[in-house]
Amino acid sequence: MNKKWFFLLVVVLPFFSTAQKPDIIPQPVSLVTGNGSFVIDENTTITFNQSDNDLSKAVNYFNDHIQHISGYRLKYNQKQGKIIRMKTEPTEDVGPEGYLLDVAPDAITITANDKRGIFYAMQTLFQVLPQIRTNGPLEVPAMTVKDYPRFQWRGLHLDVSRHFFGPDFVKRYIDLLSQYKFNTFHWHLTDDQGWRIEIKKYPNLTKTGAWRVDKNNLIWGDRPQAKAGEKPTYGGYFTREEVKDIVRYAAERNITIVPEIEMPGHSAAAIASYPYLSCSQKPQLPMTGGNYKNISSNYCAGNDSVFSFLQDVLTEVFQLFPSKFIHVGGDEVDKTDWKNCPKCQKRMKEEGLKNEEELQSYFMKRMEKFISANNRRMIGWDEILEGGLAPGATVMSWRGEAGGIAAAKMGHDVVMTPGNPLYFDHYQGDPALEPFGIGGFNTLKRVYTYDPVPKELNKEQAKHILGAQANLWAEFIKSAVHAQYMVLPRMVALSEIVWSPKEDRDWDSFNKRLQTHFKSFDQRGLVYSKGNFRVEITPVAKDGKLTAELSTEIYNGEIHYTTDGTEPSTRSPKYNSTPIPIEKTTTIKAITVSQGKNQSVVPASQTFAIHKAIGRDVQYTNPVSPYYMADGPNSLTDGIRGTEAIGRYWHGFSGKDMIATIDLGSEQDVSSISLGCLQHARDWIMMPQWVKFEVSDNGVNFTEVQTVKNDVSPYEQQSTIKDFTANFSTRKARFVRVTAKTIDGLPKGHPGEGKPGWIFVDEIMVN
Ligand code: ACM
Ligand code: ZN
Repeated sequence: MNKKWFFLLVVVLPFFSTAQKPDIIPQPVSLVTGNGSFVIDENTTITFNQSDNDLSKAVNYFNDHIQHISGYRLKYNQKQGKIIRMKTEPTEDVGPEGYLLDVAPDAITITANDKRGIFYAMQTLFQVLPQIRTNGPLEVPAMTVKDYPRFQWRGLHLDVSRHFFGPDFVKRYIDLLSQYKFNTFHWHLTDDQGWRIEIKKYPNLTKTGAWRVDKNNLIWGDRPQAKAGEKPTYGGYFTREEVKDIVRYAAERNITIVPEIEMPGHSAAAIASYPYLSCSQKPQLPMTGGNYKNISSNYCAGNDSVFSFLQDVLTEVFQLFPSKFIHVGGDEVDKTDWKNCPKCQKRMKEEGLKNEEELQSYFMKRMEKFISANNRRMIGWDEILEGGLAPGATVMSWRGEAGGIAAAKMGHDVVMTPGNPLYFDHYQGDPALEPFGIGGFNTLKRVYTYDPVPKELNKEQAKHILGAQANLWAEFIKSAVHAQYMVLPRMVALSEIVWSPKEDRDWDSFNKRLQTHFKSFDQRGLVYSKGNFRVEITPVAKDGKLTAELSTEIYNGEIHYTTDGTEPSTRSPKYNSTPIPIEKTTTIKAITVSQGKNQSVVPASQTFAIHKAIGRDVQYTNPVSPYYMADGPNSLTDGIRGTEAIGRYWHGFSGKDMIATIDLGSEQDVSSISLGCLQHARDWIMMPQWVKFEVSDNGVNFTEVQTVKNDVSPYEQQSTIKDFTANFSTRKARFVRVTAKTIDGLPKGHPGEGKPGWIFVDEIMVN
């Protein structure tokens, strides 16, 4: 079939009546629809100040797009024809990036303080126009829009080190960002597995550091290290000319590129290029994956040549990137090399540094001074707080929000990028149906319901939250198509978080508008996740009672379920938003149904084990780690058993005993108590040495009923779940106390030998 006819047949144009609000994302601050429409055709003219260079570029960008979809090249500043007016002039109440847009049948008028607002008004217009070429007049529905962003940092990150995404993909990525009114692209240019930016003074960085031995067919953590003599064939880098071109391309789309040059860790590729940069100064090759044994990945903090090198590199980076912010990493520094390095130890002595955390702080402060002296601002991952934050530093909070909260309270600026929910390398749909990834689960709705301003901050402190950003790490993302899939549609949800007023947040409205954007993706050939169609089965354990809530993110969908273990179908009972009471041990299976069809290839399934402590509050003597909170405080009494997925269900304790006390609410006959524990040695999670079970009738005086010793070897590498169980003759008890004794240190030969381990516990079962 003729291509053009084919397109005309399959394209469904977005349809707008005057009454219906167009499906704009991010939702504008205010949008009022009018009567009629403005028609763009070959007689339409754009009036604007042609002596304004920036504005002229923006108008050309607009005209290119109009030509692309309509076939018409609009004329500029003509006396006749209908007018699209673009004015930069002092405009109240919209800030530096906002705009006013008025579409009436006789004219379109865009007003903004500068070209940035004009550009965003164009993006709003593009969303109401056809998404692909129609070769005809374009109808723009009448409307009046006033719009401006909530945050000044609206970012997306891309890791081009672990996978090399070339200039074309980077530009397509920037296009997507600009279409959703993001203004910051965080370009992760260097890491252990590849240095990706040409530096004139240090050619080896790209001659050696940009290339690694190709083990890409293996899973990240399983890749063997390169051996001397093996040919490095995988990689690539951006030449200075390519960087300049991309920076220019981004600037024309209102996007600032924040380059990241990692230090002092994540630098194995730079060290492979110039071995004098490490403590050992031993030659090595760039890493092939995630195996850090016998690799130097830190710069030596005791060697002044390292600082000269980094200052030279940053000097060239300043030349290429106009960004005020320069990202210097700072995350995940294993300080072992520094502990064993005479130069690093000498530096610590000379500078009066108490420990290696302070040595890292010395490193970052020294670089911060250099960056500030060059009239730029340093930003780094939240580890730069440890050992003392450099005076002018801005913090990117990734290990949850704690780092960001601490920095904001100290009066430092912060960008929020918490792993949950803003790491877009985690799954967004049922892993059974998604491309293989790093694990973890950040659904579209979790992204949409995130707020970048933590409630711990007061109004003054909250001003330090510049905004938020999602990160796309590429250890498990080996193609451009996969990368696009991971950010779509989650970046669309994030765009509304960082742009639109908080009080207008509305999941149902967003989900409805998103359907139009899905059509646009289809028409433009973009790949995206259709969403998390898995039913979430959430326990609600309270006051001794257990219910199960079922939910799904599917648009206009229903949930059907069974409680007798059989496979659910469209004929099974429909969940009607009342939680299901669980009174005996039960397996719930559930599917999502839309348009009469089952959308879940694999039903969600959850078994609840009922026992006498269900729904009872657990009091911990030592606090549970904020990283492993499972479903909340009652996770140990919610009837859901932990599985081998370590990120869910388990409560984790690092280097401390778990001591849990449960009030059963009234005196009960008790004859067995058990505690489930996990060993996952690779992640430093070990069985407790022993578990002690005690009972009490007053909650003050406890009687030991049994102590159960561990019998799982610390060298067991398989993920192992063990129930420590005390069986005893029936006795009366109201209170139960369970103590799990942590190990004295990780075993000999373990990568963390001698260091504290974790204990992971789930479900205290009382019968
Ligand atoms: C990070 O994810 N290591 C910043
Ligand atoms: Zn050193």
